[in-house]
Amino acid sequence: MHKRVFLNAVALAIASLSSTAVLADGNSFKIGLILPMTGQQASTGRQIEAAARLYMAQNGDTVAGKKIELIVKDDTTVPDMTKRLAQELVVNDKVNVLAGFGITPSALATAPIATQSKTPQVVMAAATSSITEASPYIVRTSFTLPQASVSLADWAPKNGIKKVVTLVSDYGPGIDAEKFFKERLIFNGGQVVESLRVPLRGPDFAPFLQKVRDLKPDALFVFVPSGAGAAVMKQFLERGMDKAGIKLIGTGDITDDDQLNDMGDGALGVVTSHHYSTYHPSAVNKKFVEAFQKANKGMRPNFMAVGGYDGMRVIYEALKVTKGNGGGDALLAAMKGQIFESPRGPMFIDAQTRDVVQNIYLRKVERKDGQLYNVEFDVIKDVKDPGKAR
Ligand code: DHB
Repeated sequence: MHKRVFLNAVALAIASLSSTAVLADGNSFKIGLILPMTGQQASTGRQIEAAARLYMAQNGDTVAGKKIELIVKDDTTVPDMTKRLAQELVVNDKVNVLAGFGITPSALATAPIATQSKTPQVVMAAATSSITEASPYIVRTSFTLPQASVSLADWAPKNGIKKVVTLVSDYGPGIDAEKFFKERLIFNGGQVVESLRVPLRGPDFAPFLQKVRDLKPDALFVFVPSGAGAAVMKQFLERGMDKAGIKLIGTGDITDDDQLNDMGDGALGVVTSHHYSTYHPSAVNKKFVEAFQKANKGMRPNFMAVGGYDGMRVIYEALKVTKGNGGGDALLAAMKGQIFESPRGPMFIDAQTRDVVQNIYLRKVERKDGQLYNVEFDVIKDVKDPGKAR
């Protein structure tokens, strides 16, 4: 009996506490940022969190009279965890926006929660084409693998690369990269003689690379997620693939700016296609890189950082337009059609698809000022996701 009275008192106390919290909440705007801060994709989380905090430091934490509250959660690169965290953020914290999503399965696992709760879900990293179709509340500020892969398949045959082996991580973005690269290369008169897939978790590239050596293609096209590129590069060089006359090409995920500078001279000359390079020669990017490095002990921002930075901008601008009124639907409407100059170059959020339209650059690894960079040498302007056109 006594116990029950005590429990009731506790329940009352909690109820009054949380009602005060709700009152205080009236003037705050909460962003639930779910990222892989540990586990295989931890570099993605580190980059995006740093970029989101930089954006807030530069633009203030009060927008349209609302105090911005950033709640960062670590999903440990486990999609079930992403989903559970999203649920808690929506139900308990009453976040206005869900953001982050380091890998495709995490973004997809969260989509039903965004739909049911009418909460905008800003995908800052994951890049499988179909993600934006999983919920009408998803807006993407990263890129898509078809965007990057098609542009490289247009470049390759014009540059002596006709016979290619593809090697991708065996999940959404890898399968997109393989499919769109292959289709376009064949269309352009080239051929893909073998398509290899490696597991996402703890891949061993050695047996696959041996196979590639035996096949003697002009080039090996690779997609692995951010953070895994250095291992591919190391084994590619250790096996003397370059000396056997096989070129390494791929989407810019393999020459990730977060790791590139440590890959060594073996990376020199590798051509990739992507939407962002730390070396992108614009005033907006130079300012971004300088501020990012200053705030993060010299850490180089990579394409994940720029997805996080631009995602915060999309959220801030939508809040300015709606002044925090109208809930998730109004916010989402204000995200659609945004157009601005990002550190990556011009970008806009296609109002129909809620996906990013942006330039794709061809880049070559070069040493500049003593450091390795992806140096842009060509640009394909305003590329829509080719995955949406079918
Ligand atoms: C995805 C993850 C990455 O790290 C990347 O570079 C590209 C795509 C993804 O899971 O969608």
